[in-house]
Amino acid sequence: MSALSPSPAASVARLGDVPSLRAQVRAWRTAGEDVALVPTMGALHEGHLTLVRQARETCRRVIVSIFVNPTQFGPSEDFSRYPRDPERDVALLATAGADAAYLPDVATMYPPGFSTTVSVAGLTEQLCGPLRPGHFAGVATVVTKLLLQALPDRALFGEKDYQQLQVIRRFVRDLDIPVTIEGVPTVRETDGLALSSRNQYLSAEERAAAPHLAAVLRRVADAVRAGAETAPALAEGRAALEAAGFGPVQYLSVNDADSLAPLDRVAGPARVLAAAYLGRTRLIDNVAV
Ligand code: PAJ
Repeated sequence: MSALSPSPAASVARLGDVPSLRAQVRAWRTAGEDVALVPTMGALHEGHLTLVRQARETCRRVIVSIFVNPTQFGPSEDFSRYPRDPERDVALLATAGADAAYLPDVATMYPPGFSTTVSVAGLTEQLCGPLRPGHFAGVATVVTKLLLQALPDRALFGEKDYQQLQVIRRFVRDLDIPVTIEGVPTVRETDGLALSSRNQYLSAEERAAAPHLAAVLRRVADAVRAGAETAPALAEGRAALEAAGFGPVQYLSVNDADSLAPLDRVAGPARVLAAAYLGRTRLIDNVAV
């Protein structure tokens, strides 16, 4: 993978509030241009930039939002130490062909008296949901706001956060939000590790062990593809993760690709998903069966 060093490129408009975001989108629409939105929390890497490039293939204009959303972090999670470098991010966005960066502050997104939450039942009651109470409501609420603030034609999200993608598809459908949601396959390092802003927390030793996560997911997917019971493959996968230094393994599971219901056997589209700690860093990943 090429090093991510910002180089000079076309300029990116920096927008910080809803009126200037809407004015920009209105100007593009008046000119007959369609608009894509790529929501992020910054600390951009090649995964995010792939979303931007893919957005550029279907829409004339691309806005990337950068907002470290406090409401999706639990009290003992990494909100305060989450990596932030907006100057570097905006420079990278220029190289990837984004037209605008939307960087609202917390008061813009959550003005005093803010009291509305978007919560999605069912889909959020398994996998990461019970382990991160309030997380998906925080994501659903902020993504709803970003979509309604920008009113893009398309919004792109990574399959890396597969449960998040399904939650977003669901509330967009349920609430009739007029946007097309596009899922983008996970971008990985050459050794298989899914790119993540949190990978920078890993020590050298942890980084060396990290690719076992994707390897185990793939092994489980291969084992259950033919319709064998999922339980033995998952038990073996869990043991392999623990042997590689992961722990606790919060879940390793085979689930229906749409409803995310856990599966004892695979009969249709399915996904193998995992969340596991490596030292103090929580990694998640998933693959298609
Ligand atoms: P963040 O973790 O910054 O991710 C922004 C987008 O990039 C998400 O859609 C995520 O799935 C995607 N992404 C991250 N790593 C990826 C990879 N290796 N390959 C492909 N896509 C990848 O996810 C969030 O922010 C937030 O929850 C957000 C949706 C912005 C709401 O706050």
